[in-house]
Amino acid sequence: MIVSVEKLLIDATREIPWARYDLGQAVAHLSIPAQSDGLHTHQMGGFDGAALAAAFNLTEDQAVVTVTALGVLGNADDLTAELREREVAPRSRTPLTELLLVND
Ligand SMILES: Cc1cc2nc3c(=O)[nH]c(=O)nc-3n(C[C@H](O)[C@H](O)[C@H](O)COP(=O)(O)O)c2cc1C
Repeated sequence: MIVSVEKLLIDATREIPWARYDLGQAVAHLSIPAQSDGLHTHQMGGFDGAALAAAFNLTEDQAVVTVTALGVLGNADDLTAELREREVAPRSRTPLTELLLVND
């Protein structure tokens, strides 16, 4: 498991505006070569931030953004029925036309 932590402040008064953007890019650029090397990543936003902050002694200007499981993809047959159904369900992606804002 990889816990991704953003650093919020440059110093006492200045925020780092691109911290979350940079962190997202870092995780994306971890995921692509991992896939190329036969590994799988699964990013998660459902976690106990307070427990992770305590476990890693995070300071006030550090915040957990995501947790990523990294490893070899297992066998869907080993999952519970409910999780197997989710795992083998056809993937759908939001079409680009719904994601792009065009001002022409
Ligand atoms: C920021 C972020 C948070 C996510 N949080 C969760 C999560 O808490 N639990 C979960 O099962 N999937 C979560 N997902 C979705 C999975 O990581 C994955 O993208 C999704 O299951 C689609 O998988 P697929 O690429 O195999 O279709 C999250 C994805 C992102 C980008």
